[in-house]
Amino acid sequence: MNTLSVYNPVKIHFGTGLIAETGKIAKKYSDSALIVTGKSSMQKTGTLGRLLKTLQDAGINPTVYDKITPNPTIEQIDEAAGIAREKRIGLVIGLGGGSPLDSSKAIAVAAKGDIPVWNYLKTPAKEALPVITIVSTAGTGSEVNRYSVMTNPETAEKPGFGYECMYPKEAIIDPEIMLSMPPYVTATTGFDVFVHVFEAFTGKARNAFSSAYCMQAFYLLKDNLIKSYGEPDNIEARGNMALASALAGLAIDISGVGIIHAIEHPVSGNYPDIAHGAGLAALTVESMKYNLKACKRDFMLIAHHFGIKRAGKSDDEYAGALIEKTGEILAALNLNIGLKDLGVEKEKLAKIAGEAFTTMGFAVQNNPETAGEKEVLRLLEASY
Ligand SMILES: [Fe+2]
Repeated sequence: MNTLSVYNPVKIHFGTGLIAETGKIAKKYSDSALIVTGKSSMQKTGTLGRLLKTLQDAGINPTVYDKITPNPTIEQIDEAAGIAREKRIGLVIGLGGGSPLDSSKAIAVAAKGDIPVWNYLKTPAKEALPVITIVSTAGTGSEVNRYSVMTNPETAEKPGFGYECMYPKEAIIDPEIMLSMPPYVTATTGFDVFVHVFEAFTGKARNAFSSAYCMQAFYLLKDNLIKSYGEPDNIEARGNMALASALAGLAIDISGVGIIHAIEHPVSGNYPDIAHGAGLAALTVESMKYNLKACKRDFMLIAHHFGIKRAGKSDDEYAGALIEKTGEILAALNLNIGLKDLGVEKEKLAKIAGEAFTTMGFAVQNNPETAGEKEVLRLLEASY
């Protein structure tokens, strides 16, 4: 048997209304906090206001950095890190979806060092400010893992990176915050969870621990992915999707992602207005077909977890039924789309194929079926 090591030090708090406890939790780390969030949704829903109140009640001095965009840029991260350094802030709180959460971890690293955040792709980081994550979407998984994805607007590269010092200290998962997610965000982030679990379960680096997280996440997804989209006020469905997202985040922390993420990152790196989950939606069915032969038994197991009836089906048919089911899920989420629908230009596909290897090479390596640039380009064309 292969040797393995598993490590995840994030203390996870789950429950409705828990955001009100943030002040008490944060006080353990510092009397000052940099809140990292986006431009509008946390303000409009009153979530930022609630966070500020609990911090101030606990005697913590908050500074808000609210310029994080979808597909956050290195300029934003370096600017926020500069503010944290200048004000000698002792804690970073990420508030929102994947973009602010990813950024909070990168800012925590950059604030401790004296080099631009982009340099940490090559220079391993050894220390970071403590981070608390408060997640507002059920999709990223970033709340419980060490990964951060950033975009370099000059080159359109969108690599992921993560060091041991980048694990959040604590994650607050409060399904009440998620009730205000608009339908498109619910669909795209929910589908991101599906792909995280799928890629963690089938990837070469999977092990018994990541598979255990994935199996529970599959059950939760089966009953709650479409329900949380169709019934936005259903707090139980929202809570179950939040749990599935965290389980998926723990799974990819152990065993990584695969070719769907490897290709999607350069898609939304080149087209920053494309939501990560929408890019994944366009790429998933063709990527599953590509991987079918290499992981037939895994597909059958997932099909079983999704409640697909086996009766009368051969192994090939049963494994293939999972791909059909995925198409049905995409249709139910109104995400039955191609790259063309997302505004991707055909002339850009070759550049995107190349960047899957330069910025997400580890994810290509982890994919069950071996793929070179030619195969990735073919996948992109088939997903167009
Ligand atoms: Fe993802």
